[in-house]
Amino acid sequence: MKKLVFLTGAGVSAESGFSTFRDAGGLWEQHPVEEVCTCEGWMRNPTRVNNFYNGLREQLIAAKPNAAHEHIAALEADFDVTVITQNVDDLHERAGSSRVVYLHGELMKACSSRDKENPFCLKTLSREHLRIDEGERAADGSLLRPYIVFFGEAVPRLEEAARIVEEADIFVIVGSSLVVYPAAGLLYNVRPGVPIYLIDPKDVEVPSAMAVTVIQDVATRGMARLAALLKAEA
Ligand code: OAD
Repeated sequence: MKKLVFLTGAGVSAESGFSTFRDAGGLWEQHPVEEVCTCEGWMRNPTRVNNFYNGLREQLIAAKPNAAHEHIAALEADFDVTVITQNVDDLHERAGSSRVVYLHGELMKACSSRDKENPFCLKTLSREHLRIDEGERAADGSLLRPYIVFFGEAVPRLEEAARIVEEADIFVIVGSSLVVYPAAGLLYNVRPGVPIYLIDPKDVEVPSAMAVTVIQDVATRGMARLAALLKAEA
């Protein structure tokens, strides 16, 4: 089976009702990124940060995967599919994707604020216990924080993602402005000659030397078109 690798961003979940970050009215317009997604913001006001992600979690459990997530999952019938996502929602998994690499963390998890990657302190939140409450502690005694990669923090699964991209036979980008590094840099790990598709309703800047087939459409329709195209290549 050919290796089909997706790099997805906020746009793939937009039609499930999630705001993207940088479109007009996007999340970072209403909630300044330096307040809710940096270590400095966390040090200044951990409750504000936790409450921001508590709110997103409530939105997430009410949301459903859309047809784009479903098309991506269904392609596993014909391809060896890996989804590398910048999103922290779990909509790819809920749609049935079996291999999802979360580059920027997972909204449904909480972790230690002393050592984010300490597996003994990682806690999976549930529908019944969605919130990180004020003053709630991790197993190591530090404040519990969202398992989200803040700006300025290392991206723990980057090397794994880079290796997956290097092995791709087909590479597809869905719904990302490609402005956040190192995630956007994964494009440079695609081997020469490998077909690259990009689905986005807006113009997204890609390095000019790369031959990218652009499907200028929203994720649900764009993925339906691409799935039909790819079936012919399987
Ligand atoms: P952005 O908000 O930067 O970009 C969203 C992209 O989705 C844009 O190119 C939009 O044109 C496109 N879009 C909007 N609606 C769409 C639709 N219905 N179908 C398809 N595409 C659509 O989001 P990301 O590129 O994902 O990091 O942002 C990358 C990272 O920046 C995020 O993971 C997040 C943020 O800061 C963290 O939270 C750590």
